Amino acid sequence: MTTNTQIKSLVKEKYGEIADKNSNKEPASCCGPSCNDNDVSIMSEDYSQLEGYAPEADLGLGCGVPTEFAKMKEGDTVLDLGSGAGNDCFVARAIVGEKGKVIGVDFTDQMIDKARLNAEKLNHNNVEFRFGDIEDLPVNDNSVDVTISNCVLNLVPDKVKTFSQIYRTLKPGGHFSISDIVFEGVLPDEIRNAAEAYVGCISGAVQKQEYLGYVKEAGFKNITVQKEKEIKVDETLLQKYLTQEQIDKVKQNPPRILSITVYGEK
Ligand SMILES: C[S@@+](CC[C@H](N)C(=O)[O-])C[C@H]1O[C@@H](n2cnc3c(N)ncnc32)[C@H](O)[C@@H]1O
Repeated sequence: MTTNTQIKSLVKEKYGEIADKNSNKEPASCCGPSCNDNDVSIMSEDYSQLEGYAPEADLGLGCGVPTEFAKMKEGDTVLDLGSGAGNDCFVARAIVGEKGKVIGVDFTDQMIDKARLNAEKLNHNNVEFRFGDIEDLPVNDNSVDVTISNCVLNLVPDKVKTFSQIYRTLKPGGHFSISDIVFEGVLPDEIRNAAEAYVGCISGAVQKQEYLGYVKEAGFKNITVQKEKEIKVDETLLQKYLTQEQIDKVKQNPPRILSITVYGEK
């Protein structure tokens, strides 16, 4: 896997398969808990008690609950990056109400189709799903009050461009709360270069400090990490990519894989 275009094709293909395959959390390879038997576990959170929760939109692909931290209010315009089947959008809709607006953006056709169908069934005419790439958002400048995203930016190759797009589309005074995967320490090259681990939200992740650096570089203020949770990686995942000798070496100084929810203001 070399170019950004190839990475994006792979991501689209895999998440297309996931959207096609299930509405009941049995994806082939993803950021969720039931991925591929031996992928990362305990990433996704329980949404079922949240107002606005729509089970058909929950494919178990998240790694946090950005809506819990996003300080949305009635009437806000909310943008969800990598909206999948619409899980966070429908929870956001319950907060912003009739007077608000929720826009989900995703570049996988099947996810957009699924999300639009879900919105139709729920009769939400102020939840809109737009096909598009997060690196080049189909959203006007200075038009969004709050941006959210759940376990997506690790999949986007150009994170500098991504945060500058978030900045461009937020209104002055607007803010974001984004849940994502980052790590601390050294991720072995064998894992970093594995296509499957990329789609599984691990190898596209960057160091936590690097991530926060991109946010700052884009111009955001009052940057805070609202939540941080370590993801325990099962040894079977390591066995997929490393020899026993390499695993023993990694264990001496294991990388910490983290789910974080980051906040920033424009
Ligand atoms: C791990 S899933 C998360 C879906 C959703 N946020 C959730 O929690 O259910 C990642 C989603 O991001 C989308 N995605 C990845 N890279 C993208 C990009 N560059 N532009 C738009 N969507 C992207 C994928 O198509 C997929 O639907």
